[in-house]
Amino acid sequence: MEGKVYTAVGSPNIALVKYWGKRDEKRILPHNSSISITLSLPLYTKTSILFSKKLRKDEIYINGMKQDLDDREARERFSTIDKFREMAKSKTKALVVSYNSFPSSAGIASSASGAATLAFVASKALGLSMSQREMSIMARQISGSACRSLFGGFVKWEKGTRRDGSDSYARQIADENHWPALVNLIAIVSKSKKHISSRAGMKQTVGTSSLYKSRPGYAETASARLERAIRARDFETLAEITMKDSNSMHATMLDTWPPILYMNDVSRRIVLRIHELNENAGKTIAAYTFDAGPNAHIITLNKHKKKVLNAVSSVSGVIEVLESRPGRGPRLVADREGHLIDRETAKPIVGRPRGKR
Ligand code: PMV
Repeated sequence: MEGKVYTAVGSPNIALVKYWGKRDEKRILPHNSSISITLSLPLYTKTSILFSKKLRKDEIYINGMKQDLDDREARERFSTIDKFREMAKSKTKALVVSYNSFPSSAGIASSASGAATLAFVASKALGLSMSQREMSIMARQISGSACRSLFGGFVKWEKGTRRDGSDSYARQIADENHWPALVNLIAIVSKSKKHISSRAGMKQTVGTSSLYKSRPGYAETASARLERAIRARDFETLAEITMKDSNSMHATMLDTWPPILYMNDVSRRIVLRIHELNENAGKTIAAYTFDAGPNAHIITLNKHKKKVLNAVSSVSGVIEVLESRPGRGPRLVADREGHLIDRETAKPIVGRPRGKR
């Protein structure tokens, strides 16, 4: 492992039943189970890692920016590298260089994609033989929702009940080929950073929102129903659960003190446009969902894509619409696909990475 660069690509996920609120801050244990779809191109994270005796301390670069590991939140997130080292009985420092193909901190789960890819590539680089489930437990401790990105397709994060978190992990409901007709359109309405991180925001919600008290029970029931709808490829049920759950999470955010407002006027215009579209169609042909940001994820079926794309693109304030589908979990890339670290100098390679997802 010493001196060899390992590189992996992984993907973000979009939650249809959301995780928002922890019962244990340190271990990152959620109040409710959640379900997501792991996404495909054009969204991916590419991460290279090098464990080398030449390094005097850990260095982490994300999209060309060196991370300040003296910052408490960053230190907490990346302390997981220490856990991997402990497991491998290694003290060697690491250089991590990561690149997202999409805007970070704007509600496209860049932290989930980054953390899942990091957990995956670090375990491979240290030669640890870990199951996907074990990796998902490690990724969960970097960024909760990341545990779901260890698998492709449709994924459930079981909240678990044990205090040590050993039963709070992700499992695949169905792989990326289960429902080929499903499409995820992402309407980008802003590329700016969110006003409060999801970590800080959800803590504030749990602490101050009286509405939140009813959310864990609601979301747990919704998760069980959604799992059945995914297995049965029941689009209408999936769509209704997805929209209601997004609204439920954002309602608790608004009920937080001081309020958390991730959705903006363009997001709300998209919500209204989708309801109008469904009403005119006489059935549910599209569903919206919003994470911790104003960008909309619209779930629809191939046969309705054109219509939905036209409707969403014409909402005033929509900058661009990306298209993605259920995608695969993380994988190692071959040398010829390009690394983000120069092995000889143990330095990041600057510039946009080459190679494909
Ligand atoms: O894992 P975090 O801390 O990035 O929290 C993400 C929470 C949401 O994206 C808003 C919902 C979810 O389940 O992904």
